[in-house]
Amino acid sequence: MARHDAAARALPDTICGLQRGARTKRQQTLAAGVPGITFSWGCSSALIARVHGAGAIAGVQIGSAAGAERALDAGADFLICQGVEAGGHVQSTLGLMALLERTRTVVGDATPIVAAGGLATGADIAAVRARGAVAAMLGTRFVATRESAAHPVYCRALLDADAQDTARTLCFDGGWSGAVHRVLRNDTLEAWEAAGCPPAGCRPGEGGIIAYTEAGAPVYRYDDTPAMVGMTGRPASASLFAGCGVGAIDDVPEAGALVARLGREFRAAERVKAR
Ligand SMILES: Cc1cc2nc3c(=O)[nH]c(=O)nc-3n(C[C@H](O)[C@H](O)[C@H](O)COP(=O)(O)O)c2cc1C
Repeated sequence: MARHDAAARALPDTICGLQRGARTKRQQTLAAGVPGITFSWGCSSALIARVHGAGAIAGVQIGSAAGAERALDAGADFLICQGVEAGGHVQSTLGLMALLERTRTVVGDATPIVAAGGLATGADIAAVRARGAVAAMLGTRFVATRESAAHPVYCRALLDADAQDTARTLCFDGGWSGAVHRVLRNDTLEAWEAAGCPPAGCRPGEGGIIAYTEAGAPVYRYDDTPAMVGMTGRPASASLFAGCGVGAIDDVPEAGALVARLGREFRAAERVKAR
């Protein structure tokens, strides 16, 4: 574990995740002095050079060993291995543990690897640390927190769901065509599947407005806009991004309290392992 601890300390406390192409956000984030930025779905050496030029470090979320090699060639300082269990947009077709192992074999010991996908408890974090990850990144677990912008209907659905209630699909790709994602099953997904998963342009109910955002913008069926707070209409029919760890979510705590709990659970799991 000593090697992992040293590598984890090399990661800054504040890391901001950005989508490729989010230029304005990236500039604002770097200008604000954030010490670490992560990218997902590809990253160029020019982008990483800009992050380094601002004195920050860059991580890249990857879904395959080939993606890991490309990220390191582009200059990434650390990697986030995203397993197929992840909620939201998912690049990987491999389970997290297999991906961690394959990536470690390809990139060697020097590169810090963060694990993501289906993790929801401190015991999950201990498990990925045992497989060589220096840290864990949790997405879905934090959607169900007080500070989250998720609609109460979305939070309720997370509390009620189990891993088998999620689906890896192309259903909600309005806004990001062809990007695979994992969501909770809902009426939009069921109707699309019942129709044989037809492509965009031929989908049942396509073009229909299912909800309005708090700002009054229409949300169309199959949009990738998740059910956000203040949405009116039928937010339960919007995309409800969720990973396979959803079964372990049974409350909506404050984010700080959740972090403290994860720490306690992690330390307890480590103590059990040390016995
Ligand atoms: C609500 C939500 C939206 C997401 N959106 C994106 C995205 O736009 N791009 C991306 O690369 N990953 C996205 N992800 C995936 C996260 O980057 C991360 O890999 C994932 O949350 C980890 O798995 P977990 O949700 O099971 O913890 C999203 C995840 C969630 C929960």
